[in-house]
Amino acid sequence: MGDREYRPSLTALLRDSMHTRTLTATDADLATAGDLLRAGRLVAFPTETVYGLGANALDPEAVRGVFEVKERPADNPLIVHLPDLDGLERLVREVTPLAGRIAAEFWPGPLTMVLEARPEVPKVTTGGLTTVAVRVPDHPVAIALLRMAAVPVAAPSANRSGRPSPTTAAHVMADLAGRIDAVVDGGRCVFGIESTVVDVRGEHPVVLREGAVTREDLGVVEQRAGASDIDASPGTRHRHYQPSCRVEIAPAGTAAATAAGLAGEGVSVGLLATCEPPPDVAGLGRFDHAGELAALLYAAFRDGEEAGLDVIVVEAVPDVGVGRAVMDRLRRASA
Ligand code: TXA
Ligand code: MG
Repeated sequence: MGDREYRPSLTALLRDSMHTRTLTATDADLATAGDLLRAGRLVAFPTETVYGLGANALDPEAVRGVFEVKERPADNPLIVHLPDLDGLERLVREVTPLAGRIAAEFWPGPLTMVLEARPEVPKVTTGGLTTVAVRVPDHPVAIALLRMAAVPVAAPSANRSGRPSPTTAAHVMADLAGRIDAVVDGGRCVFGIESTVVDVRGEHPVVLREGAVTREDLGVVEQRAGASDIDASPGTRHRHYQPSCRVEIAPAGTAAATAAGLAGEGVSVGLLATCEPPPDVAGLGRFDHAGELAALLYAAFRDGEEAGLDVIVVEAVPDVGVGRAVMDRLRRASA
């Protein structure tokens, strides 16, 4: 056997056997969480979009741990989080004029900027790319934690790869308990879908991933096909956002009838729509507009799974504003 013998990494050996602490948003607990991050440990925390799984972005070993516990493909880069604009120059080669304008308008907030990375940013953090994604979240607990950590924090959504993003600490525990050191419980995330990822290296913003900040907000009216996500944002290539039940998108006004039809065939079905569920259909939430659907969507997927449903029927929303990001997630979930 000798030196070719397969040796699982320490993280793999420890997988699922770690005690994951739930921390609160008190100063004392946030100081503990900050110490853990600085020491190279993994801590999940709330943001205004979804919960992130944090690691010291400048510590390759810590970042490797994130990929391992999430079972994330190594070519899918992470977003680096800062408490304010100050640390940006340490991460990127140049803050372009466009980046400066967008940061001034949208940070703190659910927008991630992609810029050329400094060589100090480990390749494992950038998925081997020459660029790095950076975001200043708009959440008091996230900002307090990032200040305590005093290091840039790489944080993908705190779900196992391919699963819906977590919008509560309980969702994080469902996917990652036993694999990470701690989760900071900061309640439910208000937006419920991920940040908008924007390449700001050039003169005009290029949207790589639709998200909570809309194209309308950014003034991106039209974008050349192919300039967007699939080529430039590796994460959008991978299987994503999928619960274990089948997700079916129903055109506006038809969702209740679709769900009732499935129930009539003996299928166990749940409904997420603008109306109340018909008899024999599980109600997974009611919304009036796309923003409300965004806030409910991932939690509804997880509720449907827990109820052991076969199918979740979701009523479509118009493909404009935040509806564009919601429909993007829905299409991937139903693929
Ligand atoms: O709202 C959010 O963005 C959440 C919270 C925790 O901040 N984070 C999040 O991370 O959604 P994650 O890892 O699930 O998604 C990151 C996305 C992926 O699609 C990835 O490919 C893209 O950002 N990304 C990261 N670095 C990139 C880069 N250098 N160039 C292009 N895309 C990048
Ligand atoms: Mg994710």
